[in-house]
Amino acid sequence: MAITDISHRKRFLAQGNVYLPHIAVIEKIIEETPGVRTLHFNFKDEKLREEFTFESGQFGECSVFGVGEAPFCISSSPTRRNHLEFAVQRAGRVTNALHRLGVGAEIGFRGPYGNSFPLDLLKGKNLVFVGGGIGLALLRSLIWNVIDNREKYGNIDIIYGARSPADLCFGYDLDAWDKDKAVNMVITVDRGDEGWKGRVGLVPKVLEEVAPSASNAVAIVCGPPIMIRFTFPVLVKLGFTPEQMLTTLEKRMKCGIGKCGRCNIGDLYVCRDGPVFTYAQIKDFISSEY
Ligand code: FES
Repeated sequence: MAITDISHRKRFLAQGNVYLPHIAVIEKIIEETPGVRTLHFNFKDEKLREEFTFESGQFGECSVFGVGEAPFCISSSPTRRNHLEFAVQRAGRVTNALHRLGVGAEIGFRGPYGNSFPLDLLKGKNLVFVGGGIGLALLRSLIWNVIDNREKYGNIDIIYGARSPADLCFGYDLDAWDKDKAVNMVITVDRGDEGWKGRVGLVPKVLEEVAPSASNAVAIVCGPPIMIRFTFPVLVKLGFTPEQMLTTLEKRMKCGIGKCGRCNIGDLYVCRDGPVFTYAQIKDFISSEY
C-alpha cells in the first residue's frame, strides 16, 4: 500500500489578517493528569460555530490575551461537533496561562491549519494506533472518527502507554475503548505502583509483544520523540513499510502558516507540509532531529 499524497490541506483562515484569532469560550475543563488538562471550547460567533469544519490531524493556534499564542492539535473528532477540544501540557508561558483559566474564560483560536490523516487511504485497512503520554491527544480525534465510521475500516488496535499510572491521559476514552469489542486495547506503563494491576513495559517493547500484523494495515504513531524513534524500528521488524506508518509532529511551531521558518525538519515545514507525515517522508531526519 502506498500513502503517497498526504499533502492536501484545508484551511479556514480569517478574512484579511491571517493572524487574527476568533474569540472562543471555554465550556468545560477536564484535568487529565496533574500537568495536563483538556479544554472544551466553542466560538462566540454563532455563524462561525456552525460553519467551522476541520479534519482529524489538523491543529490551530490558541491565544491567551495579553500572554501569547501556541499551536495545539484539535483533539476532538469532527464526527462530534458540539464543541472543540485540545489538550494542554504545562510547558511554558502560554500553557501555564491556559492552566490558570477557568470555565467561561475567553481565548483566541485561529485555524485549522495543516494537512490531516488521509481517511480515503485508511479506508478498508486494519489500523494500529501507537500512542504515548499526551501524544494520545493527537490520535484520539482519528480514533473516534474511525470508531464513529467503523464499517469503513478493518480491525482497530490501540497500544497506549505512559510513564506511570498517574500519567495516563484520557482515562474516560481508555475505558470506552477497552469496553468496545471492536477494539483491541492494550495499556502499559513504564513503572507501575502498588495499585497498578496492568501491563508494565515501554511502548515499543509492548508493541513487539502484541505484534499486530502488517498485512493490509497502517500504523499511526504519536508520542514523545524518544518513543517515536524506538517504535518505528519495531514496526519495520513487524513488516510495516515506511509508507504504512504515519505520525503527526508538533515541532517548534509558531506562526502555523509557513511564515516564520521555525518548524522545519530537513526541508519540510511541519506546519505547511504536515503535521501528518509518513515515515517514508521523515525517516532521514527522525533520529537526528526528533
Ligand atoms: S510554524 Fe512558522 S513556518 Fe511553520
